[in-house]
Amino acid sequence: MKIGCPKEIKPQEFRVGLTPNAAREAVAHGHDVLVQAGGGAGAGFTDADYIDAGARVAATAEEIFAWADMIIKVKEPQPVERKMLRDGQVLFTYLHLAPDAAQTRDLLASGCTAIAYETVTDAQGTLPLLAPMSEVAGRLAPQVGAWTLQKANGGRGVLMGGVPGVGPARVVVIGGGVVGTHAARVAAGMGADVTVLDRSLARLRTLDDMFAHDFKTSYASAGNTIELVREADLVIGAVLVPGAAAPKLISRAQLGEMKPGAALVDVAIDQGGCFETSHATTHKDPIYEVDGIMHYCVANMPGAVARTATIALGNATMPFMLALADKGWRAACEDDPHLLNGLNVHAGHLTYYAVGKALGIDVLSPTLALKQ
Ligand SMILES: NC(=O)c1ccc[n+]([C@@H]2O[C@H](COP(=O)([O-])OP(=O)(O)OC[C@H]3O[C@@H](n4cnc5c(N)ncnc54)[C@H](O)[C@@H]3O)[C@@H](O)[C@H]2O)c1
Repeated sequence: MKIGCPKEIKPQEFRVGLTPNAAREAVAHGHDVLVQAGGGAGAGFTDADYIDAGARVAATAEEIFAWADMIIKVKEPQPVERKMLRDGQVLFTYLHLAPDAAQTRDLLASGCTAIAYETVTDAQGTLPLLAPMSEVAGRLAPQVGAWTLQKANGGRGVLMGGVPGVGPARVVVIGGGVVGTHAARVAAGMGADVTVLDRSLARLRTLDDMFAHDFKTSYASAGNTIELVREADLVIGAVLVPGAAAPKLISRAQLGEMKPGAALVDVAIDQGGCFETSHATTHKDPIYEVDGIMHYCVANMPGAVARTATIALGNATMPFMLALADKGWRAACEDDPHLLNGLNVHAGHLTYYAVGKALGIDVLSPTLALKQ
């Protein structure tokens, strides 16, 4: 198969869809790989790294889109990229179609077969191509929280681990899923005094079994939450209610009960944020203050560590990318119902029910799409 990987063009996106290691595996499987010149630079990969891996380098995205049977990317195709997609071409990337009618319309018009990273599933019922980015954002959260707590950044001037004779920072993590668990582990590793709140007792049991020596757990009732938040130096918001906007767990009035200069890191900002006073920020200007409380609300946190994030995403996408390339998308999806769950668009039809419901578009069953 001809596999093409263009440079990402969405603002502030430094990741790339194919790592040199993934390109090397694809070439070893007998496929041709074409990457755009400079495409890996944001993640620290040179064109020479791809050439060493057996790939070729093209000067422009146009050449790649015109040549490839399958396009591998990170972010959803931008309008100029959508114009280059064509009938029969496979697109494998994050799409997030439900809130994006314009992109959905263009993908349907293109005739391409689009498989979305975010809806591919696994046997555990989780989302294997979203998890690596949650792991990255979770581990990054205490790091940016620690920076936000520094005095010069508007914070309380508290060191995460304290020092002999001075207690550590108190960190509260709300939501003990993928983001929350990784955040709590890193915060505990920095020496902070950490408590994780969740509404799922099953989740709290698992965390307690695995990490009882590293951090405490607490049930996320409104009473427990505000009691812990009042005493916290750093609060990390990591909740997710699938398919819904994040619930608001700290109100503006409650900021007044917190310690001046305490920091909120709202990782759930990509789902609207779980603090009433959260609004999305960027890596260029990541923090702001409301009522004496510092807020960090960057919606694409993994972008800050583009190299780690690219390699983590590449590890997760590689088996699916190879299956699609080796077997063709139809046989690959027939053999793997979890990959079939990724099918969102095929030959002018929408094939993912939740997107159809959100946008009021009729959906063709993905199983029927395999026969078209
Ligand atoms: N900002 C970023 O760059 C970035 C990156 C990755 C993920 N995220 C976001 O982080 C959030 C968490 O993702 P995840 O992968 O950890 O999800 P997850 O499903 O693994 O975990 C979410 C947890 O929240 C818990 N929860 C739900 N409602 C709660 C409540 N009211 N109080 C306490 N706990 C509650 C759930 O029981 C679950 O354990 C999502 O919104 C995700 O989109 C953001």
